[in-house]
Amino acid sequence: MSPHDVSSSSKSKARPLAVVTGGSRGIGAAIAERLALENHDVLLVARSQAGLDAHAHSLRSVYGINVISLAADLATGEGVAAVLGQIAELKLEPDVLVNNAGLAASGRFAVSYRQAVTSQLDVNVRALTVLTHGILPGMLARGRGRILNLAGVTAFQPVPGLAVHAASKAYVLSFTEALSEELRNSGVTATVLCPGITRTDMLSDLGADELPRYMLQAPSEVARDAWEAMQKGEPVRITGFGPQLTAAWAKWQPRSLVRYVSGVVSRFALNY
Ligand SMILES: NC(=O)c1ccc[n+]([C@@H]2O[C@H](COP(=O)([O-])OP(=O)(O)OC[C@H]3O[C@@H](n4cnc5c(N)ncnc54)[C@H](OP(=O)(O)O)[C@@H]3O)[C@@H](O)[C@H]2O)c1
Repeated sequence: MSPHDVSSSSKSKARPLAVVTGGSRGIGAAIAERLALENHDVLLVARSQAGLDAHAHSLRSVYGINVISLAADLATGEGVAAVLGQIAELKLEPDVLVNNAGLAASGRFAVSYRQAVTSQLDVNVRALTVLTHGILPGMLARGRGRILNLAGVTAFQPVPGLAVHAASKAYVLSFTEALSEELRNSGVTATVLCPGITRTDMLSDLGADELPRYMLQAPSEVARDAWEAMQKGEPVRITGFGPQLTAAWAKWQPRSLVRYVSGVVSRFALNY
């Protein structure tokens, strides 16, 4: 991590600050934009400095907010430490933490690359947990804060072909629900956001971007729900009717049926 990774370090006294991981594109970029619209300064984290700079420039010019862009790989302990180090070094006091960065690798578990397996756990589980652990105490001391963790409808069922990803999101769901209870009456809330299938690069990377349009959500719709759920301090928000139906179905059917149907749908959608 070098000093020039921070492209703007001006800190506003007036605006609350939001830390958004994976804030350079996709759902994270849309949530960062929504927070900018709601007059927040933002600290964006992702690996690509160019991607961060492009979104930071757009947020500054459209919304007139302060943006810090920090290039860090959250699949590594150093990357996670760099984010917490930057917050400490600049004496930042985040009011909002959005743990959005996440990875999904499809295919049969037995033949998947070891690196793909571990990086999903490192980003989806480890980085999310450590960043929350690092930032939450300051929020509690100030008596205010909003934590938003990205899961997905995959959190509600096992998904053959996305076994590690879905299991990691089940962790995010359970962790955030437990946290939201621990934080009751503290002034800090924890919300887990569960979008359905959303039109982002992740979908193309999975080879699933041929799905019918009516099945897909727009990142801006997900971001609108994210803001609303955070404001209300909801423990769990499932975005949209289709995903709500999927989650309810998975909850009430026998687990054997859920596994089987999930495998059939997944084979069709991901061709794993
Ligand atoms: N798309 C969907 O259908 C969907 C549905 C439900 C839930 N979700 C969840 O929503 C979140 C965002 O998904 P998305 O579809 O917007 O993903 P995306 O389009 O692939 O964007 C991922 C973002 O995370 C950053 N990122 C990836 N790996 C990183 C790493 N190792 N360290 C730091 N940053 C990293 C990326 O920037 P760099 O590549 O520059 O690092 C990018 O900003 C994820 O947690 C995902 O599981 C997505």
